[in-house]
Amino acid sequence: MLLPGVKHIVAVASGKGGVGKSTTAVNLAVALAVQGLRVGLLDADIYGPSLPQMLGAREKPRVEGQRIIPLQRWGLTAMSIGFLVDADTAMIWRGPMVMGALEQMMGQVEWGSLDIMVVDMPPGTGDAQLTMSQRVPLAGAVIVSTPQDVALIDARRGVKMFEKVNVPVLGIIENMSFFCCPNCGHRSDIFGHGGARAEAERLGVEFLGELPLKLAIRELADAGSPIVAARPEGEEAAAYRAIAARLWAKLEGAGAAKAGPRIVVE
Ligand SMILES: Nc1ncnc2c1ncn2[C@@H]1O[C@H](COP(=O)(O)OP(=O)(O)OP(=O)(O)O)[C@@H](O)[C@H]1O
Ligand SMILES: [Mg+2]
Repeated sequence: MLLPGVKHIVAVASGKGGVGKSTTAVNLAVALAVQGLRVGLLDADIYGPSLPQMLGAREKPRVEGQRIIPLQRWGLTAMSIGFLVDADTAMIWRGPMVMGALEQMMGQVEWGSLDIMVVDMPPGTGDAQLTMSQRVPLAGAVIVSTPQDVALIDARRGVKMFEKVNVPVLGIIENMSFFCCPNCGHRSDIFGHGGARAEAERLGVEFLGELPLKLAIRELADAGSPIVAARPEGEEAAAYRAIAARLWAKLEGAGAAKAGPRIVVE
C-alpha cells in the first residue's frame, strides 16, 4: 500500500481550473500544521505544479539511494514535480506517465509518519483523480468552488466523480466568496456570494466555509509565503484555520479530535 505512515489523505479538488485549489490547499495545510499536526503537502498537478511558487521553495530535494527526501517549508513536508524540473519546462506527459509520476511521489518519497496529507489536485476529473482514488486510501475529497454558476456546474461534476469512485466528499469550500475593496472596505459579491453553500445543501454535502477574494491572499501566494503563515493575525488566516479545524474534526470524529494532547498556537 502507498503511504502507510499517513493517517488521513485528503484531496483538494475542483472540476474547474483556476478556482483556487492550490492556494486553498497550501493555506489549509499550514493551518493544520499550526494546530500542531504533522502535515504533508503533495502537489498532484503534474502538468502545472504550483507548490514551488506558492511555498517559495526552489531547491531540489535530496536523493538518497532510491529515496527522495521531501522539502520542509512553513512547517510542512512538501513534494512537487516542480521541485525536480525547471519552472519554465513544459511538462508533456501521456496519461500512464502521470500515474507513474504520482505513484513515485507517493511511494519513493520519505514522507515519514504524518497525521494528514493534503493533496493539491489538478483541475478536472482525469488521470490524476483516478490514480489518487484507486491507488491510495483517500479519506476524502474537499471540493473548492467559486460561487458563480459555471464553476458550480463543474463542482457538481467533481462531487459526482468522487462519489462514483467511492471517495467520500468531506465538504465544499467557497473561494473568492466576496470582495472587500482594500481602499474603502466596501464589500461586493463579484461572483455572487453563497452559491457554493446552496449547492452543498442541494448535494447533501457539508459546507466547510468561505474565503474572501483578497489582494493579500494572491500577493502572498505569488511571493511564496502563504497568508496563514505570513499574517496569522489577519481575518483571512482565521478563516483558513476555522475551515482546517472543521475538516480535522470531521476526519477524527468530533470526540477523538479533542482527545489527543495537541499544542494549539493561535
Ligand atoms: N481567495 C483568494 N483571493 C485572492 N486571490 C486568490 C484567492 N484564491 C486564489 N487566488 C489567486 O487566484 C489564482 C488562481 O489560484 P490557484 O492557482 O490556487 O487556483 P487553482 O484552482 O489551483 O488553479 P489550477 O486549476 O490551474 O490548478 C492565483 O493567482 C491565486 O493567487
Ligand atoms: Mg492548482
